[in-house]
Order: sequence, then structure tokens, then C-alpha cells
Amino acid sequence: MKSLLFQLILASFVLLNSDNNVNAGVTSVFVRMEYPSKDIPLDNEAFAVPTGHNAPQQVHITQGDYDGKAVIISWVTADEPEASKVQYGTSKGKYEFTAEGKMTNYTFYKYKSGYIHHVLVDDLEYDTKYYYKIGTGDSAREFWFQTPPMIGPDVPYKFGIIGDLGQTYNSLSTLQHYMESGAETVLFVGDLSYADRYQYNDVGIRWDSWGRFVERSTAYQPWIWSAGNHEIEYFPYMDEVVPFRSYLQRYPTPHSACKSSSPMWYAIRRASAHIIVLSSYSPFVKYTPQWEWLREELKRVDREKTPWLIVLMHVPIYNSNDVHFMEGESMRAVFEEWFVHHKVDIVFAGHVHAYERSYRISNIRYNVSSGDRYPVPDKSAPVYITVGDGGNQEGLAGRFSDPQPEYSAFREASYGHSTLEIQNRTHAFYHWNRNDDGKKVPTDSFVLHNQYWSSSSRRRKLKKQRLSRALGRIASY
Ligand SMILES: *[C@@H]1O[C@H](CO)[C@@H](O)[C@H](O)[C@H]1NC(C)=O
Ligand SMILES: *[C@@H]1O[C@H](CO)[C@@H](O)[C@H](O)[C@H]1NC(C)=O
Ligand SMILES: *[C@@H]1O[C@H](CO)[C@@H](O)[C@H](O)[C@H]1NC(C)=O
Ligand SMILES: [Fe+2]
Repeated sequence: MKSLLFQLILASFVLLNSDNNVNAGVTSVFVRMEYPSKDIPLDNEAFAVPTGHNAPQQVHITQGDYDGKAVIISWVTADEPEASKVQYGTSKGKYEFTAEGKMTNYTFYKYKSGYIHHVLVDDLEYDTKYYYKIGTGDSAREFWFQTPPMIGPDVPYKFGIIGDLGQTYNSLSTLQHYMESGAETVLFVGDLSYADRYQYNDVGIRWDSWGRFVERSTAYQPWIWSAGNHEIEYFPYMDEVVPFRSYLQRYPTPHSACKSSSPMWYAIRRASAHIIVLSSYSPFVKYTPQWEWLREELKRVDREKTPWLIVLMHVPIYNSNDVHFMEGESMRAVFEEWFVHHKVDIVFAGHVHAYERSYRISNIRYNVSSGDRYPVPDKSAPVYITVGDGGNQEGLAGRFSDPQPEYSAFREASYGHSTLEIQNRTHAFYHWNRNDDGKKVPTDSFVLHNQYWSSSSRRRKLKKQRLSRALGRIASY
């Protein structure tokens, strides 16, 4: 008994000290091998159109409700409108259930989209593999997905984080490496297809090619979408001026399940995580719908059920790259205080085509009349991570400010993706993997301690509970 107590004391001492991580940051000297940052040609097999008349293509799924018992399945039929119907079931080839959704189509300049289908499949069982079939006759196609376990504080789950993906050879390598990671859901931090780098009808055509490109992953596991600047598509010269039109037609989100009035910002709960998606390019200042919604959503977060609080946005709040420097300042001024107050664990962003991780810092004492001007170490603050390195055609953002600011822990201009592997309510393993290394060499990694459950008083409470449960078991012998 005495030695067990001693071990507990020792363990908590080690835990407390491992959080104290503020020291000089690292600017990696790694120089990646250059592939051309060029989009893959349309006739490449990466964009292959499935065979068969009107065969479903660009298949993608996303979470369809608040807690993970529903998916939205989306696809395009190029030739004809047809029923938006999904057949599904829990064994391969046996589709006992049917769900129907809706079909939409749109024009963009003179491009006419295919028939875009969105079907909500709900009332699913947790932690179950479902097979599904879409399309008709010889052109029908079959896929599968796994629902997450029921939400709960100690449910392990592995997320991937990808941003600024595009459709180059580097994008393909990011996607392939991600798919080898064993992660179960992608948190996507904006800038999907980079179709807006094209003009006229090619914009729509490159949205279609991107949909086929990512299908190898998106048809089998949910990607949680957030929008970036490349989704805005403000093109007065083509008379296309309504922001996010292609994105909103193609990538629905479960925003009504969390009382959001817009698909651009919303939240989901999955396994042991509460994930909040923000829109860097929608109004967010005080009294706007996004601001009002976030204030309410943060009240709904229940760390006893979902200990991990994760925020996604496109524009990073802390970034020491010359590219997009301080673009996140306006959102920082509005939301940073809430992130600190609610002890957000981690904020993922994209936008900058490089990788960067911050220490736990905040700048909430700053105000325009006086106050501290610089971010300071803050144990309640989130870790900020920029994963804008998916590999799009704009290439890497190689110039970091010098010297490295104190808030920056690690930065490197390479392509890659991250994974967040939640173990239980207190521990998660985080990795960033650069493409050049493949999956086996985690370049930046650390153990993330939960911001809510790692507080010493809560940890003590938890240990007491566990100890008394263990003693109870011994006593019952
Ligand atoms: C949608 O498809 C229908 C049926 O093919 C077509 O008549 C209509 O013009 C299309 N609408 C748009 C906006 O492209
Ligand atoms: C601005 O910051 C200073 C220094 O922290 C503080 O004394 C002051 O109250 C702040 N002003 C407002 C309006 O919050
Ligand atoms: C949580 O996970 C970490 C890492 O795997 C492990 O060291 C720790 O013992 C786990 N805690 C509990 C209570 O299971
Ligand atoms: Fe961007």
C-alpha cells in the first residue's frame, strides 16, 4: 500500500513537470526533395472516371449528426439525374436498408455540374462497419465505413489532420501517407481543390477531378470539412461573386445538428472529442451569427463526456512564417480569450504552406490602449498547430521570421500531415509526418496532456476514484 502511494506521488510529479515545455524553439534545417508543384494532368489515373454509364463518382462522406450515429454520403453522377438513393447494411452485399436524399446541380460560368447527390444515413449503430451501395445496374458501386464508438471520456480514437491539399503529385503523396497512418477520420483545415487557380469552365472541372482524387479516402471515412480562402471563388470577370458556391454545393456539413445557422461553422462530437469548426472568411466579430453560435456551443462542451476540445480554422492565429503573417490577428482578438477560458486543447489551422507548432501561449492581456504586447506562456492556452502543408500547386512557404519568436516551438517547410491519437481522457499522442520520410518517421511528435483532466485537482480526484475502485475489488475477494 505504502509503495503504491509512493508510486502515485512520483507519477504525478513527473506528469506535472512534463508540461513545463517553454524553451527555445526549433527551426528545422531539413531540405525536402523537390517534386514539381504542378497539378496532376487530368488524364492521369489519379483522376480516373469510374467505368459504366452514369457511374457514381467523387464519393465522399462526412459525419451527419452531433454524436456520430449518422453520415452524409455525397456523390456525383455525370450523365443523368437519378435517384439519390443509398442502400446499406452491416454485411457485404446484403443491403437491408435504404436512405434517400436530394439531388442538386449548378452552373459556374458556363460549366454545368453533374448531378450532385447528398443522402443523410442516420440511426446507425455505434462502432459498426457498414457497407453501402450507390448507383444502378452495372454502374453501381460499393464502399464501406466504420461508425465511431459511442462518445465517452476514455474512448480512444485516431484523427488525421490535413490542410491545403490541392491535386499535385505532392498532394497524392500526402494522401497516400495519410492512408497508411491508420487514422479513422480526417480533420480538414481548409483549401480543398485549388480549382480557383483555373479560369472559366476549368474551375468546375478541377473540382470534379479533386473529388475523384480524394475518393480513395473520402468514400471510406468521414472528412470533417472547414473552408479556406481557395473556397471563396470571387470572380467578377466571370460574373461569379457569391462566396463558397462550389464548396457549399459539394461539401455539406451537419451544421443544423449543433444549432448552427450556416454550414460554414459547426461542431461535432466524435469518440472522446468535441470538434469545433470555424470559418476564417465568414463574419466572426462580436454579435455576428458565428460569434453568437460559438459562445453557445462552448457552453455545450462537456469535458466529462468529451474531454478533448479541438478547434479547426483555416487561418492560423499564431504563425511565424513570412507568408500570411498576422492574418489571423483579427480572429485572435475576438476568440483567443474564449479558447483560454475554455481550456481548448489544440487549435489546428492551415493556410501557410509549411508546418509549425506553438507552445502554450496567450496574448489576452494585450489591449490597444495599454497592456502587455507579447504572447506569454499560459498553461490554460491551447497548442496552435499549422498543417497547411498538404502539397498544393502554390508550393511551400519557405521563409520563416528570424529569429524564431519565443512562441514558436517547431517549424519546418515541408509537405506532410498530422495524426492525433487519443488514448484516454488524459493522454493523446500527436505526430507530424513529413512526406519525404513516409509513415515511419514522425518528424515532430509529443504527448498531449488534456487541458481539463490534467489539472492536478482533477487528476487527484480521478486517482482517488480509481484507487477506491481497485481497493473495492480487493475487498470483495
Ligand atoms: C439541372 O439539371 C436539369 C436536368 O438535366 C437541367 O434541366 C437544369 O438546367 C440544370 N440546372 C442547372 C442550374 O444547371
Ligand atoms: C488594458 O490593459 C491594461 C493593462 O493590462 C488594463 O489596466 C486596462 O484595464 C485594459 N483596458 C481595458 C479597457 O480593458
Ligand atoms: C492513459 O494513456 C496513457 C498513455 O497510453 C497511459 O500512460 C495512462 O496510464 C492512461 N491512463 C489511464 C487512466 O488509463
Ligand atoms: Fe489558404
